[in-house]
Amino acid sequence: MAGYISGEVDRMNSLVSRFLDFARPLSLEPRPEPLGPIVDRSLQAVNARWPRAAVEVERHYASELPLVPVDADLCEQVFSNLALNAYEAMGEKGGRLRVSIAPAARGSRQGVEVRFEDSGPGISPELREQIFNPFFTTKKTGVGLGLSIVAKIVDDHHGAITVTSPADGAGPGACFKVFFPSG
Ligand SMILES: Nc1ncnc2c1ncn2[C@@H]1O[C@H](COP(=O)(O)OP(=O)(O)OP(=O)(O)O)[C@@H](O)[C@H]1O
Ligand SMILES: [Mg+2]
Repeated sequence: MAGYISGEVDRMNSLVSRFLDFARPLSLEPRPEPLGPIVDRSLQAVNARWPRAAVEVERHYASELPLVPVDADLCEQVFSNLALNAYEAMGEKGGRLRVSIAPAARGSRQGVEVRFEDSGPGISPELREQIFNPFFTTKKTGVGLGLSIVAKIVDDHHGAITVTSPADGAGPGACFKVFFPSG
C-alpha cells in the first residue's frame, strides 16, 4: 500500500511540474554550447527510465558542429521529451531510434538541426495537426504536454520544429527535426 501511495505521489508530482513548466514563462539563459553532450544526457536519462526497452539508438553527429546559443537545461528537456515519445511509440517491441545532429540552414539563417527518427507506427496527417496542442494525447496515461513544452522552448530560442511521417529512412516511423539558429 505504501509503495502504491508513494508511486502515485511521484506521478502527481511529475504531472504538476510538467504543468508548471508549460504554464510559467521561461527564463532563458542562453550560452554558446555544443548540442552533442546535451542530446547525450537526454538519451541517457530516457534510457534509464526504460531499462528493458529493446531500443537500438544510432547516433550520427557531424564532426564540425558550430556552437549555438541555447539554455542547456531547457534544451535537455526538448530532447528528453522527443526521445521519450519515440520510446513510448515503439513500445515493448522496441525498435530503432536514429538521432542526428548536423549544421543546417533555414532561409538565410545558419544553425544546427537535431533529428529524432524512430521506427514506431508513425503519425497520421490528421494527428500531425494536433500533436502540438496542449493536452492532446492518444496515450492512456498521457498528459499531452510534452510537445507543447517542446514547441514553447524551441520558439523561445527562435528555432523551429517540424515533423514528418513516415520518416525519411526505412519504416513507417516519425521524424522530428529541431532547428536552433546560430545567432
Ligand atoms: N514519435 C512519435 N510517434 C508516434 N506518435 C507520437 C510521437 N510523438 C508524439 N506522438 C503523438 O503525439 C501525442 C502528443 O505528444 P505529447 O508528448 O505532447 O504528449 P504525450 O506523450 O501523449 O503525453 P506527455 O504529456 O506525457 O508527454 C502523443 O500522445 C502521440 O499520439
Ligand atoms: Mg510525450
